[in-house]
Amino acid sequence: MKWIMARDYTDMSRKAANIVSAQVLLKEDSVLGLATGSTPIGLYKQLIAWQHKDDISFDKVTTVNLDEYRNLSPEDPQSYRHFMNEQFFSQIDIRMENTNVPNSCCADVMRECLRYDAMIENRGGIDLQLIGIGNNGHIGFNEPGEAFIMETHLVDLSPTTIKANARFFDGDEQKVPKQAITMGIKHIMQAKRLLLVASGNAKMEVVKKALSGPVTPRVPASILQLHKDLTVVCCPDA
Ligand code: GLP
Repeated sequence: MKWIMARDYTDMSRKAANIVSAQVLLKEDSVLGLATGSTPIGLYKQLIAWQHKDDISFDKVTTVNLDEYRNLSPEDPQSYRHFMNEQFFSQIDIRMENTNVPNSCCADVMRECLRYDAMIENRGGIDLQLIGIGNNGHIGFNEPGEAFIMETHLVDLSPTTIKANARFFDGDEQKVPKQAITMGIKHIMQAKRLLLVASGNAKMEVVKKALSGPVTPRVPASILQLHKDLTVVCCPDA
């Protein structure tokens, strides 16, 4: 496990972007596992800037996102597909057909979960997985529970997650979808490299607790301790 303590959010974003950029430079057809939330936005901005300067290209890159709210269409501004298109994909030279987010509007969720896992396997797995962390220690939308769930699955969001994510829904918990589809622990842990980003003292505490305490499904991020190539890039409050 490698810890990189950045000075501030800008520094954290640049350092994390350097790691993603190096991955793509070394393997131009990398499969990048991507994350949503507010934390990676600065990282995406930095990658966009480097792509516009021709320092890096995503032309041969494939992306797989961690999760999507249930029943939010790609056009819905709150959907993670919309977020990724706006914050990243539409601003770089990636081929949209090479970008993947779970289709949560499907009629048959089980089938979609199986399709998503098979799609990742068919691409040879994930080279570098970017991960944020929830206040309750969730990764993707793998919520605290009795067991680690290996496969992509439908999840009931925990009350703490609904409360935390209400800030993206006009502060109204009622508007937050109650379910989501998330990549399971298997493909996260099978990624060749993991990059965990955390911004601010509170998130750093969650990361420290997860990575230094016992490995337990009650703190889903604790499983990351067992990965051979985990880099944590974090920064304190401004
Ligand atoms: C959501 C996402 C997670 C993300 C988390 C933290 O719950 N499903 O993948 O890590 O938000 O978000 P933020 O970076 O905004 O704190």
